[in-house]
Amino acid sequence: MPTILETQGLSRSFHGFHAVSNVNLSVQEGSIHALIGPNGAGKTTCFNLLTRFIDATAGRIQFQGQDITRTPADAVARLGLVRSFQISAVFGQLSVFENVRLAVQRRRGHSMDWWRSDKALAVYDERTHELLAEASLSEWARHLAGELPYGRKRALELATTLALEPRVLLLDEPMAGMGAEDIAQAAALIRQAARGRTVLMVEHNLSVVADLCDRITVLARGEVLAEGDYATVSKDPRVVEAYLGHGHAGQRKHHTVAEPSHG
Ligand SMILES: Nc1ncnc2c1ncn2[C@@H]1O[C@H](COP(=O)(O)OP(=O)(O)O)[C@@H](O)[C@H]1O
Ligand SMILES: [Mg+2]
Repeated sequence: MPTILETQGLSRSFHGFHAVSNVNLSVQEGSIHALIGPNGAGKTTCFNLLTRFIDATAGRIQFQGQDITRTPADAVARLGLVRSFQISAVFGQLSVFENVRLAVQRRRGHSMDWWRSDKALAVYDERTHELLAEASLSEWARHLAGELPYGRKRALELATTLALEPRVLLLDEPMAGMGAEDIAQAAALIRQAARGRTVLMVEHNLSVVADLCDRITVLARGEVLAEGDYATVSKDPRVVEAYLGHGHAGQRKHHTVAEPSHG
């Protein structure tokens, strides 16, 4: 599989603190790739660097063979490297359908489209229905977004992100705050969203990672500690140490399932 997203020596410091340090990341096209690591490892900072929310102190980023190290964030998103919740906002007073159609319109339409009649907006309906189906939201289409249960609201956010037609979808802790039932649904959604796309996700739930991801990069203290498939990475003593050395599972909210105890 060809590499779609790659970093070389990617680094970012904040006032001398090395949040991300010399990271070489290689994401294969069509894969689901996980970025894991203890809290403060630099995962979100990596995402901020990749989406160009913040500048790198050193290193390079290549997306689809193009150097995007200095490309503005909005241009990177238009190229197809899109983070969930980046541009998508959910409007509680609009229906689920209207929210998704607005996102489709924003991607495809003209800037003055917003005042158009429903009839004129009908050109976006087909793609809107496809996205609703992809996010398992078809039967929620007429509900107000503000009245959705938590898991469905996250699915709506995903649908509005998919409306931007990402080639690579970045998800930062997509299961955060979800119960077991929502997690199973969200995992199915991500698997569905990954068809014909590449997904790079930060996820603390290691059983989700084991189940969903083809390749895993482990970060600790800003550096890549290990990389490989789940079986390889979860057996790596440095990985086990990085997790266990960070406080036991259960004591911190985010670490309840992060301990590779069933590895
Ligand atoms: N804007 C910033 N200014 C200063 N320090 C930051 C900033 N953003 C992140 N950091 C620090 O960088 C480290 C990595 O943070 P982060 O990338 O959010 O970790 P993770 O997502 O892996 O939990 C943390 O110690 C955090 O406090
Ligand atoms: Mg984070």
